Amino acid sequence: MRVINFNAGPAGLPLPALERAREELIDFQGSGMSIMEHSHRGKEYEAVHNEAISLLTELLGIPATHQVLFLQGGASQQFAQVPMNYLTAEASADYLMTGVWSEKALDEAKYYGKPRIAATTINADKRYTRVPRQAELQLDPKAVYAHMTTNNTIYGTQWHTVPEVGGVPLLADMSSDLLWKPIDVSRFAMIYAGAQKNVGPSGIVIVVIHKEFMAKGRTDIPKIFRYSTYAENNSLYNTPPTFSIYLCRNVLAWIKGVGGLKQLEQWNREKGELLYGAIDRHADFYRAPVEKDSRSYMNVVFKLPTEALDDTFVAEAKKAGMVGLKGHRSSGGIRVSMYNAVTVDNVKALVSFMDQFAKKNG
Ligand SMILES: Cc1ncc(COP(=O)(O)O)c(C=O)c1O
Repeated sequence: MRVINFNAGPAGLPLPALERAREELIDFQGSGMSIMEHSHRGKEYEAVHNEAISLLTELLGIPATHQVLFLQGGASQQFAQVPMNYLTAEASADYLMTGVWSEKALDEAKYYGKPRIAATTINADKRYTRVPRQAELQLDPKAVYAHMTTNNTIYGTQWHTVPEVGGVPLLADMSSDLLWKPIDVSRFAMIYAGAQKNVGPSGIVIVVIHKEFMAKGRTDIPKIFRYSTYAENNSLYNTPPTFSIYLCRNVLAWIKGVGGLKQLEQWNREKGELLYGAIDRHADFYRAPVEKDSRSYMNVVFKLPTEALDDTFVAEAKKAGMVGLKGHRSSGGIRVSMYNAVTVDNVKALVSFMDQFAKKNG
């Protein structure tokens, strides 16, 4: 029996994508072996690889100016690989600080150049409860790039408009909200995302990069770290994580099958309205720190009146078949992650549990 999985990542994957993997696991399309046993240079794997790229291109409406790459090392490796490719000791880059992941990205950039904080919403408690407003950005027109985190998985905040950064290339860590709705890819010089929330298994990273920006990457770094190496070889320079890419393909095909990103956005907004509706109905009991216009549709954080009640909430939810609700270890409280594989009905079940729990314990 499958549970209702509110994990923050690795997170639940759509059941049809997993069932397809189960059906194809031992004998992929009559080839007598699993896709993970196929050569990455063979026609069976290549077809899967190219299908994953073309599905992502179609779903996101990726223009011909941009290229899809598959990398490894998680999104954290991108925190280092981006500045490694683009910064030099004297060059600066602007970082928009909205949480733990932005901080980690900034820290890695310090090894290569002079990253600047162009905006931060850190508060007196060293926490972030909203994203910056456009008027608060102090941008450097000479920055090599500006870096943002579109959704802040730990703090439960999300940008709802793409900031204007002038002519500076905008780079976005979309690990926890890629594919939650349609986006205008042309606004970004580079998007990267660890796959383990909305796309597939952990470890693999989806990169969508503007070809001209890519061409500006340094060539005095090892080939394996250059974006251009992946681009020139269709992400097959070395052996890619073939099974992970296969699973991403299954998830992307599922997204297309259910109606694409417009349909996902409709479901995700409905889920958000249901859950924030419950929080707002019991605002004294479910205490949500995030300012309303920065609320995330992917990760929702709140605290109950006591830590003991947080624990009881998690334990009773588990008994009711709902897991993954414990807040991040740095924040405590409750975190509900509701990526694309979490259904509207799953959120309705949680909301009904929350209403009853508040009535009983409020
Ligand atoms: C927004 C964001 N960026 C980066 C990361 C780090 O990803 P990884 O563990 O794949 O390196 C995470 C992980 O949860 C994340 O949520």
